[in-house]
Amino acid sequence: MGQPLVLRSVAALRAWRQQCRRAGETMGLVPTMGALHVGHLSLVNRIRQEADRAVVSIFVNPTQFAPNEDFSIYPRTFERDLQQLSEIGADAVFAPTVQEMYPDGFATTVTVAGPAKVGLEDAFRPTHFGGVATVVSKLLLQALPECAIFGEKDYQQLAVIRHMVRDLDIPVEILAGLTVREADGLAMSSRNVYLSPEERALAPKIQEILQGCAEKLRKGSAILAAETWGRTELAIAGFEVDYIAVRDAASLAPVDEPRPGQSLRILVAAKLGRTRLIDNIAAN
Ligand code: PAF
Repeated sequence: MGQPLVLRSVAALRAWRQQCRRAGETMGLVPTMGALHVGHLSLVNRIRQEADRAVVSIFVNPTQFAPNEDFSIYPRTFERDLQQLSEIGADAVFAPTVQEMYPDGFATTVTVAGPAKVGLEDAFRPTHFGGVATVVSKLLLQALPECAIFGEKDYQQLAVIRHMVRDLDIPVEILAGLTVREADGLAMSSRNVYLSPEERALAPKIQEILQGCAEKLRKGSAILAAETWGRTELAIAGFEVDYIAVRDAASLAPVDEPRPGQSLRILVAAKLGRTRLIDNIAAN
């Protein structure tokens, strides 16, 4: 398949979008920060089933990184990303510069609450979801796609974006992509390249422990007991645990006693050395 059209400016994206619309074609957006892996490609494949045209944005968004985080070393692999996207038939790549997205004098941000303030990622990365919400609302308004897709791997991010789109009446359907895992269970992530060989060997434990927690809940364990078990097992395995929490799957609110039929999600964030891993699974 041919190389996707590379669009560097909002004007070029809008012109292409307009051309698609005139041809009667729908468009789906896959927002990414590049360093694409099979998980991202699965999102592109899914969006191609939902829309006539697929555009992938590649933008390492500075506003969602705190000063002590990995913005400067975040993997940037643009040529490889393009190659992979040509192989699966993405139609266009929107790759703006920081100046294009945040021109001098930029002064407007989106403030999020609800699922963005539930004591999970937000407790450890307090400015993160504001940055995500601002850039995602810009991308949605720039591209005006019929649908956009986000991976369940970043489960709280997905909940925040769904909520924001609903609250701000942004006319787009938000789709969720299933987490893609390595053969040993580790959730694919662009940050997995930071792991040393020893850490990489340990990392799948996070998924095993999530499964163990879900199993305990299915067998009737109390939520607090399952969380405590998970935290202890992670610590024994060598992780520094930020959180492991069983939450309502939609609101991400804490749950003491699940209601009959209530969907629960188990979410975890833990560090191996300097690499912070996040993962989540359905609990029931
Ligand atoms: O999940 C990501 O890669 C980013 O947070 C996103 C949604 C592309 C916004 O920068």
